[in-house]
Amino acid sequence: MAVAGRIEEVRSEIDGLAESLPTAQRLMQAMVKLLHDRMLKYNWVGFYLLEPGAQPPMLVLGAFEGAMTPHTRIPLNQGICGAAASSGLTVVVDDVSKDPRYLACSLETKSEIVVPVFVHGKVVGELDIDSHFPAAFTAEHQALVQHCAMLVGKKLETSGQ
Ligand code: SME
Repeated sequence: MAVAGRIEEVRSEIDGLAESLPTAQRLMQAMVKLLHDRMLKYNWVGFYLLEPGAQPPMLVLGAFEGAMTPHTRIPLNQGICGAAASSGLTVVVDDVSKDPRYLACSLETKSEIVVPVFVHGKVVGELDIDSHFPAAFTAEHQALVQHCAMLVGKKLETSGQ
């Protein structure tokens, strides 16, 4: 199937999950599994959530699919994860070996996307995806991953954790 068709199909399945699952926790778990299983180049998929009240602020690993990562807690001044959460912007890195911010998770990782999750306009966490393929996160993929992060933010707003 062409990439655009697959993205459309996965997007509508994810919309279905967001409608049917009652909590953000269950949505995040189902979402990481679906993205990891169905998108061939999404080799590690996980959420990091800001630890409530932590000073300095800390991203803590939540639901994920893929190999265990050494980075279960990431301060905001470290990594591509820290850059996305502190700026509130999507970060796409086509070649992680050229980005000095990159914290290595797997030697096979070649590219990465991190999209912040917002609740009432504030960053509360992020969706992080690693690929074994260089430049895997083209504009269509960015739109899909941003849509996923938006759905989790909405679910947190309406249903809590
Ligand atoms: N590569 C990330 C660390 C998390 S792992 O990819 C799961 C970073 O540079 O922040």
